[in-house]
Amino acid sequence: MRNVLLQSSCLLVVILILTTLTGCNPSPEPQFRFNRVAMLKQEKTDLSEGEIYPAEYQSEISNILTALYGTPNEPRFPFPLGDDDPAHEVLSLDNLNQAAGPVSIDRLHQTAGLYRELCSHCHGISGDGAGGTAPSLKPYPRDFRLGKFKFKSTPLRRMPTNEDLTRIIKNGIPGTAMPSFRTLPDNEIEALVDYVKYLTIRGQHERRLIAELANLDGQPILDFDLLKETDEQGQEIDEETIAENLEEFQAQLYMVVGEYLGEDIVSRWVEPEDEIIEIENAPAAFLLDHPAHATLILQGKELFYGKANCVQCHGETGLGDGQTANFDDWTNDWLKTAGVAYEQPATYVDFLKAGALYPKPIVPRNLRTPVFRGGNLPSDVYRRIANGIEGTPMPSSPTLSTGEIWALVCYVKSLPYENQGVKRNELPVNERVVD
Ligand code: HEC
Ligand code: HEC
Repeated sequence: MRNVLLQSSCLLVVILILTTLTGCNPSPEPQFRFNRVAMLKQEKTDLSEGEIYPAEYQSEISNILTALYGTPNEPRFPFPLGDDDPAHEVLSLDNLNQAAGPVSIDRLHQTAGLYRELCSHCHGISGDGAGGTAPSLKPYPRDFRLGKFKFKSTPLRRMPTNEDLTRIIKNGIPGTAMPSFRTLPDNEIEALVDYVKYLTIRGQHERRLIAELANLDGQPILDFDLLKETDEQGQEIDEETIAENLEEFQAQLYMVVGEYLGEDIVSRWVEPEDEIIEIENAPAAFLLDHPAHATLILQGKELFYGKANCVQCHGETGLGDGQTANFDDWTNDWLKTAGVAYEQPATYVDFLKAGALYPKPIVPRNLRTPVFRGGNLPSDVYRRIANGIEGTPMPSSPTLSTGEIWALVCYVKSLPYENQGVKRNELPVNERVVD
């Protein structure tokens, strides 16, 4: 990788970065927003009360990220790679270019700027989930930078497959503000899938650089002076020295990647398909008139209120009114770690000022309405119960057999229609549906 890193083509890239860093670009363009919330959390963890990291830390991290990832108008991925590096399989730069940048249509009717046009008002230019529309929504649009996805075919702590992300973009997420983009051509959806991955990886690297700050001891990591083309007296530096300096800069960048960023964040996106949890032993009894259907529902009900303890959160009524004082990981990330109390907004105003969205509790799903965010096929619901929902309190069910999970699927799918035809006041109190 080092050899490739020092190739002259890379030097060209650095010159591009230089242009961006020194602000030679005539038209103001949107920039990625720095993750102030993660920085504040780090300050509260590492430093004593009231102390903050010097402003240069923020600009240095932003500059490193620009060197590695480019800008919203000119994305790069992820950093100089060897031809055989598996990270090439993660996403394509052509796709990024189609999704990034300002909105435009060329003579072949190829659209660019898709993300900015269709997604950024909710998910934000930086993928921070804090676009203009976000504050009024519940749940909030996803902040991709935490690297967690909810509705996928892979287990907890694994990345979604391309197919998972494609399905989300095509179907949307019913019951939330996430719309369906079914009418987009396949190549545009593919471009958006790659752009979501790009923002996720960039955001995770940003968080890692912020977390590494404490170890840096105030030493700058990259020497951006190496990119200058004039010396302190304003004299032009000769070409040979410029080339040497660029090589030195590249070597430093390589060191940052090796030492602070590592390979794990990118490599987790290589072939997540290998991790897909297969769906096994689907019962034929899903047909409502199948004689075994009612038995499965009863078995599921028993599990729900008994061994599987779904009642703990989804409540006696299944309305989702059990455990309701929880937050998702995107909120807990700062709310919990920083040790602040939800009931006392005064303890976290500085997080709100830094860009955190006001904490809204995550409510377990009301299972009496037939709306499933992750899809309403029996196999979708199976995955949610078996794999859990990442980033939320909804747990996976490693101790249940496949048969037991199918029974729960049958029960859950039957809940919206339970007691239909029975008058409300004839129902036992704990089964009455509140309007
Ligand atoms: C009107 C607001 C809105 C727009 C526009 C929007 N989203 Fe979303 N998106 C959401 C919300 C809200 C969620 C979170 C739903 C949840 O957590 O259950 C979400 C979640 C997601 C997720 C996470 C899925 C998962 O499994 O965790 C992805 C990926 C995503 N959106 C991609 C996109 C892309 C790509 C676009 C543009 C083509 C887009 N969104 C446009 C509101 C929006
Ligand atoms: C610790 C709390 C908790 C427990 C225990 C729990 N759930 Fe959940 N469940 C949740 C939360 C929170 C959500 C909403 C997650 C989200 O934001 O999408 C949810 C969502 C769901 C969904 C909706 C999936 C979708 O696609 O919309 C189903 C179905 C579900 N749970 C079934 C179950 C079953 C069956 C059990 C027992 C095996 C169970 N849950 C146990 C908290 C819990």
